[in-house]
Amino acid sequence: MDIEIKIIKQLTDNYCYIIYSTQTKEALILDPAEPSPIFDYLNSKNLLLKGILVTHHHSDHTQGVLEIKNKLNVNVYSPNSKIEGTTNLLEDKQTVDFEFIKFEIISTPGHTLDHIVFFCNKEKLLFSGDTLFYYGCGRVFEGTYEIMLKSLNKLKLLPDDTKVYCGHEYSYKNLEFILDELVYWKDREGIKQKTRELIKKRGSSMPFKLGHQKDWNPFLNCGDSHYKQGIVDFPKNEGKISKEASEIEFFTFIRDKRNEF
Ligand SMILES: [Fe+2]
Repeated sequence: MDIEIKIIKQLTDNYCYIIYSTQTKEALILDPAEPSPIFDYLNSKNLLLKGILVTHHHSDHTQGVLEIKNKLNVNVYSPNSKIEGTTNLLEDKQTVDFEFIKFEIISTPGHTLDHIVFFCNKEKLLFSGDTLFYYGCGRVFEGTYEIMLKSLNKLKLLPDDTKVYCGHEYSYKNLEFILDELVYWKDREGIKQKTRELIKKRGSSMPFKLGHQKDWNPFLNCGDSHYKQGIVDFPKNEGKISKEASEIEFFTFIRDKRNEF
């Protein structure tokens, strides 16, 4: 595999990604907010930018688009014509082929109505924006909880060995929420410490494996009887949700609780 992913930290806790071929030096940028470190990296590796990809319209994912587009004269692939600079509109089930890498577009409304994610089957890569986070999911700003749950369930159909790169470094906070507020897991302090150390050592918790999240992410397990039982049995949830509750009722319960955490 000659595809590399460079993680570029942006703003407070955003991630922009540079996806490039070490052979041809062709590159794509996903969700740029602050152009300066992106230009630095492109220059340091002599990369040839082929386009800018955008997952959704929020400014922390788009505010760097125009400056980069104007300077390097590239196309902007986004799901919404209102995103400034958009040249190519993307929609669900579309394939976009950049030769060195090919993406399938999956529409995942909920966080915003225009949200899309980029999946590369050959390399098993998913850029999930603000739909799926490590141990969490995005807040539901524009869609309904039903719509968001449906979007997350679509992502569950992707292969277990998919490496996921998401839009924010929320991993530790998400994990803390699960351990302190949602379910009982053995050795919670040990898990917290290990995760803290891992993020510090690597500088980021990206990427993470989708298969692991299918087992442990609460938002991907709202229909799983074993996971539901764990939530019902957790002392802080006593009397607040029953194990007979439906998948969407569990999703609503967990999302509301996470919003307040
Ligand atoms: Fe967002």
